[in-house]
Amino acid sequence: MKLSSLMQTRLAAAMEAVRGHDPRVPAVALILGSGLGAVAGAMQESTAVAFSDIPGFPQAGVAGHAGRLVIGTLEGVTCAVLEGRLHLYEGHSPATVVLPARVVLGLGARTLIVTNAAGGINRSFAAGDLMLIEDHINLMGVNPLAGPVVEGDTRFPDMTNAYDPALLQLADAAAAGAGTRLVRGVYAAVPGPSYETPAEIRMLERLGADAVGMSTVPEVIVARARGVPVLGISLISNVAAGIAGEPLTHDEVVAAGAAAEHRVAAVLRGVLRNMISPVESRGAS
Ligand code: HPA
Repeated sequence: MKLSSLMQTRLAAAMEAVRGHDPRVPAVALILGSGLGAVAGAMQESTAVAFSDIPGFPQAGVAGHAGRLVIGTLEGVTCAVLEGRLHLYEGHSPATVVLPARVVLGLGARTLIVTNAAGGINRSFAAGDLMLIEDHINLMGVNPLAGPVVEGDTRFPDMTNAYDPALLQLADAAAAGAGTRLVRGVYAAVPGPSYETPAEIRMLERLGADAVGMSTVPEVIVARARGVPVLGISLISNVAAGIAGEPLTHDEVVAAGAAAEHRVAAVLRGVLRNMISPVESRGAS
């Protein structure tokens, strides 16, 4: 069997399993990063499916990542939420890392919202800040689209507006409404799992990165290959290596997530409240 049809078969099996638990078609897909699960708890009429109950899904194995797919409504919008994600540093192939994103997009989501924890490189950022991702630099050394084209993907997606300008504005308005400081910047994605050296952070700063993390970019690339607009929010969980002179720990990243998850949830809820779905906008015109 060709690799692309293998992937198609794997995807179809995973989607069928999720639909067996809950047949609703989500409008929005959300991927929640380390310690940022609060918004999933606020969902109504929700059905949670453990990754271990979805064929082809490995367990999400990192502390702070629950490993569940939750379908429900938030602010009246049907959402499919991935609580926990897979990372390259766990040893998964790029195709496996993006499988959960492909499933929630395959269920019908027409917007992707991604959150993550990241180290702050920009000297004006403090731990606890929320950063809207304006653009990214892929330094992971891989691209999840390499290989045969998956049905529904474009081979050479444009990445000019990888992060949708209209969604960025919605997020600014939502943060202002929630009284939350929101900064903007460029997210550099690295493979991890070791944190960066101070020299690497100086290099990333010169390359134009404002924050650094080990996730998100593969899922964003897949969404863009499928024409789905993306909003990305990073929690600056720590200042990057060498800036404060303190050693970094994953516990610190998870704790920062716990301290910020309600602010992230407030911004996400504001975005959903103000999002005009294609159906509503057709109805209004
Ligand atoms: N570097 C890379 N990934 C991260 C960091 C960091 O400082 N903080 C949270 N994720």
